[in-house]
Amino acid sequence: MHIDFTGRTVLVTGSTMGIGLATATAFARTGARTVLNGRDEERLKAAADSVRAAAPDAEVLAVAADVATAEGADVVFEAVPEVDVLVNNAGIFASAPVLEIEDAEWRRFFEVNVLSGVRLARLYMPGMMARRHGRVVFVSSETAIDTPLDMVHYGTTKTAQLSVALGLAKAAAGTGVTVNSVLPGPTHTEGSEKYIAALIPEAESFDAAQREFIARFRPTSLLRRMIEPEEVANLILYTSSDLASATTGAALKVEGGTVTSLVP
Ligand SMILES: NC(=O)c1ccc[n+]([C@@H]2O[C@H](COP(=O)([O-])OP(=O)(O)OC[C@H]3O[C@@H](n4cnc5c(N)ncnc54)[C@H](OP(=O)(O)O)[C@@H]3O)[C@@H](O)[C@H]2O)c1
Repeated sequence: MHIDFTGRTVLVTGSTMGIGLATATAFARTGARTVLNGRDEERLKAAADSVRAAAPDAEVLAVAADVATAEGADVVFEAVPEVDVLVNNAGIFASAPVLEIEDAEWRRFFEVNVLSGVRLARLYMPGMMARRHGRVVFVSSETAIDTPLDMVHYGTTKTAQLSVALGLAKAAAGTGVTVNSVLPGPTHTEGSEKYIAALIPEAESFDAAQREFIARFRPTSLLRRMIEPEEVANLILYTSSDLASATTGAALKVEGGTVTSLVP
């Protein structure tokens, strides 16, 4: 199998670090004109420099915008009005007792994790469908289908992404545009380092903390380790490639066997 994105433009939201940065790097390495996004200008510039260093031949663009807002989505769309692949990766997660989560926090999770992708799909999908080619990938989570008690607000948004992706896939029926969700499990990123440090403050190193996290909080993991962001990026790249032309409306797991059910 050969995956080549030469001549294709790919937008990865939330790509200044973590899964987004690994995914943008992987796209750039396979020839894509790669568009990075994040809110923080300095982090974004550093991320774009690191992608250019990893893929010197690729064209790398960076658009600073908060994609959780309508204005931010418009900024991205105006800067890059046509993309072949949209990866809705920007997302937030946190641990919180479900009965103590305020309305504002529920809304914030919904705006960042769900509406960001809905708005960008609304902006980009008509063009994709008119050109009869395109890929939209929502980076959901294994918590969408097996929601931990301390992440109900987060898991709810990740479940919503699965419904949104399936609905958009149906809206694009017969056009050559596919819409799918990718469900990572616990992945070693800047965000998860903070999340795990808050859960296990007594750990002496991240390595000790992540082993404790998997043993105590994700004991069903068949990998028995955190997933590396590049391992998630691999599935996102495949799903976004021409090779995945018959996969649409799907929820694709890359969660190390953490979810014990046979099907998502
Ligand atoms: N790590 C895991 O264990 C895991 C597991 C399953 C699913 N996921 C999902 O994978 C995605 C990425 O997770 P991660 O762990 O890589 O996250 P991370 O390390 O916390 O990085 C999040 C990225 O999103 C950007 N971002 C956040 N809010 C944004 C906004 N409103 N507009 C634009 N950019 C925004 C951040 O950039 P700035 O701060 O510079 O804006 C950063 O680049 C998320 O959707 C998450 O739910 C993660």
